[in-house]
Amino acid sequence: MAGKKDVFDIVSEKFDRRWKRDELIVDAERFKTYDEVFDHQNLEIIYRLMTRGHIKVLECPISTGKEANVYKAKTEDGFAAVKIFRTSTSTFRSFTDYIDGDRRFNRIDRSHRGIIYTWARKEFINLDVMRNNRIRVPSPRIVMKNILVMDYISYEGAPAPQLRILKATDDEWASMWKWVLKTVKALFEKCELVHADLSEYNILYDGKPILIDAGQAVHITHPSARQFLERDMRIISHFFEKKGIENASEKASDLVSKLMPEKKD
Ligand SMILES: Nc1ncnc2c1ncn2[C@@H]1O[C@H](COP(=O)(O)OP(=O)(O)OP(=O)(O)O)[C@@H](O)[C@H]1O
Ligand SMILES: [Mg+2]
Repeated sequence: MAGKKDVFDIVSEKFDRRWKRDELIVDAERFKTYDEVFDHQNLEIIYRLMTRGHIKVLECPISTGKEANVYKAKTEDGFAAVKIFRTSTSTFRSFTDYIDGDRRFNRIDRSHRGIIYTWARKEFINLDVMRNNRIRVPSPRIVMKNILVMDYISYEGAPAPQLRILKATDDEWASMWKWVLKTVKALFEKCELVHADLSEYNILYDGKPILIDAGQAVHITHPSARQFLERDMRIISHFFEKKGIENASEKASDLVSKLMPEKKD
């Protein structure tokens, strides 16, 4: 379109006149949403990630969602996943329900951008705590403002599938269900966290299950922690019941009561 600058024009004006579009983003046609996501500020961060050696090039989108887009990036020695949180969205779930009340985030910048940056930083910190406690998650590498870089999780040469679309045998589902129970328990007891968005969408499979999407995870002292834990276990046990685990919801309630016994007056 005449007169309209695309992201590549902007980046080359701003940073480097010799910048080539295929050095910034491979396969630009597949970046349908790039005009919106690759605004000036995001390009600046991507540029910084490149010049500091965290990524070499953004390769292709893995997921374009309402809250964040996730891209596969090439690095010096392999790949990374780059999660870009939208700063323009008005449909973002209520972030503050998961930030306020988490004692780790008492003093934050409450502007719209400030809240989104906190959200990205919170996902980084949560993944870091989980990784340090040997929970299977993508290792976080760096967070800059609203952009998080983490390990890229793949399976059979493609981005790892969500459990929701995975085909598996009864035995495999049974062992994945055990993994869920073990993981939720370890998250609570070792990391002192409740995931708060646990579902068949947020567990990937790379030969084994691996947990993702930790921005909303809250400290166990959060006033809604029990409610989130109950919801997590209700949703995930419902999925495993559909996969043939007969007593999943019972086991799920048992775990909730064990981890967070209801207070009696
Ligand atoms: N590290 C990763 N490696 C490979 N694929 C990933 C990785 N992280 C996320 N994905 C893919 O991107 C999808 C969206 O990621 P995630 O769940 O973290 O974002 P989200 O907050 O749910 O975003 P939205 O709600 O906007 O869709 C995942 O379901 C998964 O398919
Ligand atoms: Mg998700």
